[in-house]
Amino acid sequence: MRNLPEKLQKKLIERRRINALRSLPEVNGGTDFASNDYLGIGHSRTVFDNAIRILSEKEISINGASGSRLLTGNSSLYNEVEELIRKFHKVDSALVFNSGYDANIGLFSSVPQRDDIILYDEYIHASIRDGIAMSKARNFKYRHNDLDDLLSRIKRVRQTGDIGTTEQIYIATESVFSMDGDAPDLKAMASICQEFNLNLIVDEAHAIGLFGKNGLGNVQEQDLEENIFARTITFGKALGCHGAAILGGSDLKKYLINYARSFIYTTGMSPHNLATIMAAYQFMTGSDGNRERKILHKNIEYFNHEKERLGISSFFIPSISAIHSCIIGDNNQVIQVAENIQKSTFDVRPILSPTVQKGKERLRFCLHSYNSKEDITNVLQLLQIAIKKHEK
Ligand SMILES: Cc1ncc(COP(=O)(O)O)c(C=O)c1O
Repeated sequence: MRNLPEKLQKKLIERRRINALRSLPEVNGGTDFASNDYLGIGHSRTVFDNAIRILSEKEISINGASGSRLLTGNSSLYNEVEELIRKFHKVDSALVFNSGYDANIGLFSSVPQRDDIILYDEYIHASIRDGIAMSKARNFKYRHNDLDDLLSRIKRVRQTGDIGTTEQIYIATESVFSMDGDAPDLKAMASICQEFNLNLIVDEAHAIGLFGKNGLGNVQEQDLEENIFARTITFGKALGCHGAAILGGSDLKKYLINYARSFIYTTGMSPHNLATIMAAYQFMTGSDGNRERKILHKNIEYFNHEKERLGISSFFIPSISAIHSCIIGDNNQVIQVAENIQKSTFDVRPILSPTVQKGKERLRFCLHSYNSKEDITNVLQLLQIAIKKHEK
């Protein structure tokens, strides 16, 4: 087999030198403070059985979509899933993509045009960054969750950006940030967008399942459905399966079907995946979901209480979501702190630069409804000891 070219070898060596070389981890198996399976749907036997039941009731016994959705890969199950999602989220249309990554690159690479402008939060997810990089629109970032900075950027591009009546401005944010677990003031953002006639796009990947009636997200919790141009929702986090959808107007759906290359040039989902999405929605929006959500919010409260009691809350970014980041600030140190905690069979992962900004390297705790209070106290006590060791 031919070797990797030398210049690429050098890049790997450099990654190793700065202690940032990514590799696939061992299967950990410890107490889960790392996965995005916030409500336990990912390993729910009920959801698994219901997905099989949906398939057998519909007498579906095929394994794959057999083509892209525009050719042979579409099915009545796809239509049913999109209709169910559309109704749950009170929106004109839902278009399912194979993943959140595909949804975001499809949306951002195809919708904003050459003369348009995208303003995005500096901590926006890589899938949106990549979509923006593929777009011909001009783009500028604004400081994380800083609406004064956003406003001043809007005013600046309005004054200097050749914005006429046909050019559009898109604002991109997440309703819960994937690395920091914090949230923007969505209501204020929506009213800024209304005042200046801008298109607000909200990625709800880490809000679905946790916030809003029946876990349907922050946009619905705050009654903002009418103010949002597009929402990305993903099924791989609290819904415990795989895939994503873009929610928006019916013309947006038509447009994406025609122009979003990550939708057009890929094989559709398997019926089993679609049935799992249906079963996961039934769980999340029903009494099971409400029960798990309540426990999860109690765990979040308890986690915040315990980090305060143990005197380590100043290391954390304040959060009421399932994501809690403890900033350590150095790749070597964060790896060591994580290893110390992992020795006691807690699965907590270090997040290194360049995934996060240099100096903001962190341990990211993801909380679940199935974490016990005892586990929360124990893992935070271990963290307290590890932090003290590194302060010496
Ligand atoms: C905010 C956000 N958007 C999109 C994605 C991508 O979703 P998926 O894992 O379904 O590709 C992620 C996943 O990490 C995310 O955190």
